[in-house]
Amino acid sequence: MRRPVIAGNWKMHGSRAGNADLVAPIVEAVRGGLPCEVLVFPPYVFLPQVLEQAADSGLGVGAQNVSDRSSGAYTGEVSAAMLADVGASHVLVGHSERRALYGEDDATVAAKFAAALSAGLTPILCVGETRDERESGRTESVVARQLAAVIEAVGARDLGRGLLAYEPVWAIGTGLTATPEQAQAVHAFLREEIARRDATIGNSLRILYGGSVKADNAATLFACEDVDGGLVGGASLKPEEFLAICRAAA
Ligand code: 13P
Repeated sequence: MRRPVIAGNWKMHGSRAGNADLVAPIVEAVRGGLPCEVLVFPPYVFLPQVLEQAADSGLGVGAQNVSDRSSGAYTGEVSAAMLADVGASHVLVGHSERRALYGEDDATVAAKFAAALSAGLTPILCVGETRDERESGRTESVVARQLAAVIEAVGARDLGRGLLAYEPVWAIGTGLTATPEQAQAVHAFLREEIARRDATIGNSLRILYGGSVKADNAATLFACEDVDGGLVGGASLKPEEFLAICRAAA
């Protein structure tokens, strides 16, 4: 049984006052019991605040990005050890916005995944195709390439120390969700790609779906055999909707 995970990626949103109102009901619901592991990913500067709010509640807190370097003259970067030091448990690597807007290539993403593991963080590797890539029949080759870069860097066994998220770029922030059939097909493909290197990890690795997950489409997506939860953007900023998504992971 793979325990579902619902992860809220706040992206570049939040404020000290707003975070307090957003996190309080989530902490309360987590304490009361939810059918999934729940994680939130605030911007770096809010990590201490959110970690303090989440303390001892079971709500996991992670960062949206991490440096591929360990320390030194890298102005503006934040290392995995620093994230672990402040108490973060997870980190997103290879989000499509990082790849597309900040030029992160497969090798950089793989180095970030390895850096996160070295610091004892749980990385969530994000993969996904653009609309063009889907329409030209390249979905599988794109996600296989993104996945293979990380497996080559750390090995299939250590891939299993993280999580995987399939986020079709055309579904992010667009209101266009992948159909359950489309999501399931790619998740099954990814699981197969992992399983042919390591059957145990292929079976046990949790693969989240992301891309316009909302309260009203979550249950049908999470009902898919190989969809083990969601990576939620916009809807994670509304506590009621985010919690409805968490409950849909039953
Ligand atoms: P949306 O849920 O806003 O489409 O964002 C998905 C995403 O990118 C989560 O990482």
